Amino acid sequence: MKLLITGGAGFIGSNFIRYWLEHYQDEIINFDALTYAGNLENLKEFETDLRYSFVKGDICDREAVFEAVKNIDVVVHFAAESHVDRSIMDPSAFIKTNVLGMQTVLDAVKEYKKRIHHISTDEVFGALKPDDAPFTEKTPYDPRSPYSASKAASDHLVRAYYHTYGIEMTISNCSNNYGPYMFPEKIIPLFISNLMEGKKVPVYGDGQQVRDWIHVLDHARGIDMILKHGRIGETYCLGGDAEMANLDLTKSLLKLMDKDESYIEYVTDRPGHDRRYAIDFSKAKNELGWEPQIKFEEGLKEMIEWYRENQEWVSRCKSGEYQEYYEKQYVSR
Ligand code: NAD
Ligand code: DAU
Repeated sequence: MKLLITGGAGFIGSNFIRYWLEHYQDEIINFDALTYAGNLENLKEFETDLRYSFVKGDICDREAVFEAVKNIDVVVHFAAESHVDRSIMDPSAFIKTNVLGMQTVLDAVKEYKKRIHHISTDEVFGALKPDDAPFTEKTPYDPRSPYSASKAASDHLVRAYYHTYGIEMTISNCSNNYGPYMFPEKIIPLFISNLMEGKKVPVYGDGQQVRDWIHVLDHARGIDMILKHGRIGETYCLGGDAEMANLDLTKSLLKLMDKDESYIEYVTDRPGHDRRYAIDFSKAKNELGWEPQIKFEEGLKEMIEWYRENQEWVSRCKSGEYQEYYEKQYVSR
């Protein structure tokens, strides 16, 4: 099998590629525009692996996308703008990549009759109250940030292409991922790296917003099982069974990193901040036999260890040096 991974230089995409190459002999093409979130250093151990190749390309570039999709079997579509705070500051790139880019990828999938698995988020379902039942595949869409609205649009487009043109598709809506190679702008890697540098951690509002944390490798295994056993046309919710308020998460991080609560800095809340996400993954469990395996406490400890052992990776992310890697390793060689 030949897989085209869009957004494979990002956090989840690069973990998925590593997972796949460690488990299977398939050929993988990583198609990524290398925005600020794309870091090819994440995959440098595979540069000489004949099963792996990289194409620098934008999913909005029709010619490049059609060329890439023509000769593969399956598209696993991760490429997106993914950070909520950036979408609040400027939604444009989110609409361009997550909606128009999605359309381009779908047009190519339709043209060459390929299968696509679309990676989506639980944020499309909106926000839960403390006693509400978790999201399921049947929860009505209610996106509330420019990011989640753009992801909701992408999900609708994938389903529209299935119903209208009969493309072979599946979708997964996953909760908050954590793990190695996570760009230090999202809460867990930002807080770990701040604490490593002796800086305070900015908790938004009252810190009582709840997220459900899933290890990125549990997510990768879920996508694998959907690709192998998922029913075409279906959506699967994937979650980590680890609901936690941000303040509790912050306190756990402080404890694991031997810091006291004076390192907490309460800052102005995110506008439109969703109060709670939670996932009921019964469908994936019953149909695919999937459930998360990595306990949050263990995964978090390992993640902190990974950041401690890879401080150079973290500082290159923070300084922007990682963005010179493609030029040095791929272009001027
Ligand atoms: P990320 O921001 O770390 O990586 C995104 C990748 O896409 C980067 O490598 C970037 O260069 C690439 N990209 C962006 N725009 C592109 C374009 N126009 N053309 C080609 N490549 C482009 O994101 P992530 O956290 O790894 O998330 C990956 C996917 O999973 C996204 O679709 C996101 O919505 C979804 N998701 C993320 C989470 C999470 O917790 N991070 C949870 C559920 C779903
Ligand atoms: O639920 C899945 C989503 O999880 C994905 O679709 C998104 O791509 C991913 O970015 C993530 O979105 P969140 O907004 O939940 O993640 P983030 O790490 O930005 O924020 C997590 C929570 O922590 C949220 O309630 C806001 C809060 N927060 C975040 C940051 C960056 C803080 O309190 N302080 C911070 O500095």
